[in-house]
Amino acid sequence: MIRVLSGIQPSGELHLGNYVGALRQWVAFQDEYDAFYCVVDLHALTLELAPEDLRARTFDAACSLLAAGLDPDRCTLFCQSHVPEHPRLAWLLECTATMGELNRMTQFKDKSTRQEAVRVGLFTYPVLMAADILAYHAGAVPVGDDQRQHLELARELAQRFNNRYGETFTVPEAVVPAFGGRVMDLQHPRRKMSKSVDSPLGTVQVLDSPQEIARKVRKAVTDTDGDVRYDPGDKPGLANLLDLMAAATGQRPEDVAGKYTRYGDLKADLAEALVEMLRPLRERYDAYSADRGAVEAVLAGGAERAREVAAATYARAAGAIGLLPPA
Ligand code: TRP
Repeated sequence: MIRVLSGIQPSGELHLGNYVGALRQWVAFQDEYDAFYCVVDLHALTLELAPEDLRARTFDAACSLLAAGLDPDRCTLFCQSHVPEHPRLAWLLECTATMGELNRMTQFKDKSTRQEAVRVGLFTYPVLMAADILAYHAGAVPVGDDQRQHLELARELAQRFNNRYGETFTVPEAVVPAFGGRVMDLQHPRRKMSKSVDSPLGTVQVLDSPQEIARKVRKAVTDTDGDVRYDPGDKPGLANLLDLMAAATGQRPEDVAGKYTRYGDLKADLAEALVEMLRPLRERYDAYSADRGAVEAVLAGGAERAREVAAATYARAAGAIGLLPPA
């Protein structure tokens, strides 16, 4: 069975874009792959959160993933910092990666211009991500469009290491979700839905109350021509609503469009469909967040399983590169 690995930063509440664009696929992959999923708390250190916030968000991310349908009996769910082989392997890879290569990462270029003193961790972030992937011999990596370049780097580093030191790593392939990254902000339908701080009305949180969901859908920006048809280029707001309805009900957006003549009716039905889709998540989230011990036990079990695989990969890579094995 091919192994899949993906990671999510504990950077705040999950929104509809995370769920429909990525997590639903993670859930489905549990039955098709040997699935490993990690909460990448070491990557989140580049966000410079207060320590108590980082801790709370990491726990919260685990609760959200379980609520979304990850099942510890069908996948390995763990916290990145619980498996010390990630940063150990990252160091070996850093010693094969070049400054030029990392300087070309567009995410680094973007984010570093927004920091006054640019941290080294932000620069080496993609190498740690490569280590996350290569430690597990993951053949498939579900990522959004924004992470494609990082995945390309992971492939390049794997190939380089294999050529130089002998066959050690599996070269991973990106799996971009069918609906990948296509959930748009309800207020600014030409940009991707992202954190609610940037656009409180445009972002539906997975844990929003039914009333909040209905209000945000009702206020979603459309257009004034009043004609219901699927046209992402000219009618991005409406197309986003049709895409969401399609995703929530398993139809094609063109077919959804054929069923409506008025925006208001579509919005009312969409609100109801989203509320129903998210209801079980909200309920499971409440149950998990009230049972700290259970969530910690899942993470402990996941880390143990993950570590078995990652430690073997690390030992092989360390040996190949010439580090003297501990006696
Ligand atoms: N960089 C990814 C993001 O911000 C998160 C991530 C870290 C990841 N390690 C990973 C994704 C390994 C896939 C595989 O979205």
